[in-house]
Amino acid sequence: MIIGFIGFGKVSQNLIKLIKSEDILFITSAQNRSPKTIENIKQSDVEVLDSFKEVAIKSDILISANSPASALNVSKKYGKYAKGIYLDLNNISPDTTMKINEHVENLIDGAVIGKIDSTNPILYVAGKKAEELSFLNEFIQIKVISEKIGDVSLLKLLRSTYTKTLSALLIESSNLAEGYGLEEEFFDILTLTEGETFREKSKSRIANTLNSKKRKSEELDEIINYFDSDDLIMVKAALERLSQ
Ligand SMILES: NC(=O)c1ccc[n+]([C@@H]2O[C@H](COP(=O)([O-])OP(=O)(O)OC[C@H]3O[C@@H](n4cnc5c(N)ncnc54)[C@H](OP(=O)(O)O)[C@@H]3O)[C@@H](O)[C@H]2O)c1
Repeated sequence: MIIGFIGFGKVSQNLIKLIKSEDILFITSAQNRSPKTIENIKQSDVEVLDSFKEVAIKSDILISANSPASALNVSKKYGKYAKGIYLDLNNISPDTTMKINEHVENLIDGAVIGKIDSTNPILYVAGKKAEELSFLNEFIQIKVISEKIGDVSLLKLLRSTYTKTLSALLIESSNLAEGYGLEEEFFDILTLTEGETFREKSKSRIANTLNSKKRKSEELDEIINYFDSDDLIMVKAALERLSQ
């Protein structure tokens, strides 16, 4: 079994760490990639091919995990070469997923839920061939939602509407508290009502959002473009907050 990656960032690296099997060969390419990605590839147990076209042709499962902005183009460029399963893990809207479906024969609409670098993220999948990923349950929990392409992207988008907007609010309120020299006390009093893990989870959420501001903004953009924007006052404010 050969699993190929287009995009070699946090998602791909962590999947390789989780899926440990002598029967699976991982492949990718460094074609036009940044020094950071090339370093990621060097640090991982993955075979490097000259081009992504070759990766697509050779993979039984081709995983697209690059960025919401490049997901569609990647499918247009390489989808036609993928004769096995094409698993898209980008945080994209159902509209984008449906467009990708036009360029790919055996699309599985997927999303990693839970922290990608944790030991137990869950892979949500939808599509006619989604059940075929069940063999991965040995390494990572697979949750098949339905046969309908778009269902997982929609679930993920609904989840992001809440989590990404909340992250922007956390950044704003903790910055305010810090300005008054009361940041730790701010987390203390919220922990009283929000639960023991609130401080740790919030700080991780804030750091994660600030470290990937560009990607988080792209994801908020997808939400605004998909839903009726009149219903999204808070999401729009979150995007404005992250753009500052
Ligand atoms: N991180 C998470 O927790 C998480 C969870 C669920 C879903 N996702 C989604 O999964 C995707 C990947 O996330 P990530 O955290 O792994 O991102 P990341 O760490 O920023 O890595 C992105 C990777 O994709 C590569 N890439 C970008 N455009 C490309 C293209 N056109 N062709 C080939 N490679 C390309 C980048 O290479 P360069 O460095 O050369 O640009 C980099 O290797 C995103 O769509 C994200 O929304 C992320």
